[in-house]
Amino acid sequence: MSEWQKSDWRNKPRVQMPEYTDEASLKAVEGKLAGYPPLVFAGEARRLKAHLGAVSRGEAFLLQGGDCAESFAEFSADQIRDTFKVMLQMAMVLTYGAKVPVVKVGRMAGQFAKPRSAPTETIDGVELPSYRGDIINGFDFNTDARIPDPDRMLQAYTQAAATLNLLRAFSTGGFADIHRVYQWTLGFTDAPEAEKYREMAQRISDSLDFMTAAGLTGETNHELSTVDFYTSHEALLLEYEEALCRLDSTSGKWLAGSGHMIWIGDRTRQPDGAHVEFCKGVQNPIGLKCGPSMTSGHLKALMSALNPENEPGRLTLIARFGAGSVGEHLPRLVKAVQEEGANVVWSCDPMHGNTIKSTSGYKTRPFDSVLREVREFFQVHNAEGTIPGGVHFEMTGKDVTECTGGVRAVTDEDLSDRYHTACDPRLNASQSLELAFLVAEELSNRRTKLADAAAV
Ligand code: PEP
Ligand code: CO
Repeated sequence: MSEWQKSDWRNKPRVQMPEYTDEASLKAVEGKLAGYPPLVFAGEARRLKAHLGAVSRGEAFLLQGGDCAESFAEFSADQIRDTFKVMLQMAMVLTYGAKVPVVKVGRMAGQFAKPRSAPTETIDGVELPSYRGDIINGFDFNTDARIPDPDRMLQAYTQAAATLNLLRAFSTGGFADIHRVYQWTLGFTDAPEAEKYREMAQRISDSLDFMTAAGLTGETNHELSTVDFYTSHEALLLEYEEALCRLDSTSGKWLAGSGHMIWIGDRTRQPDGAHVEFCKGVQNPIGLKCGPSMTSGHLKALMSALNPENEPGRLTLIARFGAGSVGEHLPRLVKAVQEEGANVVWSCDPMHGNTIKSTSGYKTRPFDSVLREVREFFQVHNAEGTIPGGVHFEMTGKDVTECTGGVRAVTDEDLSDRYHTACDPRLNASQSLELAFLVAEELSNRRTKLADAAAV
């Protein structure tokens, strides 16, 4: 077999990718990006892979989250800071529930390209190409905006670099001190409607007080004032991915330099397609979305293509079936993994199978369906004796009104107030943190059950 090349995907059938009309300007952009520094370093991707290996064994838990689609217009320090803050709060609560470290991976610094259910969109009888994310074309509904423009890749690269720079500064500059993170949660847990989460919050507070009394503070202990925070996105726009792909001199292996972890979407996971071909050859941790149409045969073919050496942490299977459907689909895939003896991380994306149109016309996701899917995911793993390794959310640190429900209830009528997403509806800060408390409860119940079972 000849050696993998970063351009091999070009010989495979591709779906969900734009047809660029200006070949010369596409080539020029690809050339520029190929000369730019990669955004991440291979050693970081390997470290994330090792952390995910721990997740696959139940020794850590994965929290992956962020925007459905990052946007050029919404780009700001506040936006990045707020999402980062909520993820740290969620991670703290989940650590408490799981009693293992939480691996934090943002859908950030590269999450720009979107698969769409239809190639075109029609409004008032006018038909135009669908919006495919800011790295490809514009959101505005006019012909000019919707033509794929290769120059957008350069702006996406710049935005990703600036985002990553700020995330790195936040992670190590004292901002992420665990005592501060706890203080941030009080705005949520002290509110009257969050009564039911106060007991766990109090227990976390007691643990932190104990640590402080024992001399473990951010000042004395580096681990408590810094965090590892990784980036991820869907590797959809392969021209961009190829241009940022680099040969790592340490390992002699290829690296997708666009982010620490990349994933393959539910619409682009054809075993012989372009997206799988690209991901096969890079050493990064790879995510694979698993929707209702995935058979055990597909999954086996994909596991052997993407992780032929069965390396722990290489492959994260992100289940996204929809509330009420997990029991119908997840067991056959769990069985396929067991039959192959494959090392995988099982993560739950309770967002993409639960999108509905609200009575007010907005695309939304009910908080209760999101929670229900997570609970079903845990139930199946508990029944099969396998490990529910993580969760994958579309969320933001802003107080948006895009998903309905939660203790600070967002109603159908509220959706129009602050509906800002460029693509799918996201959980807001309060809904995200609430979900973390509920998942922590699941994790804690699971630990109790396992301990009880071990005792008899
Ligand atoms: C996404 O994660 O934004 C997405 C499009 O997911 P999926 O491929 O699972 O539909
Ligand atoms: Co989405």
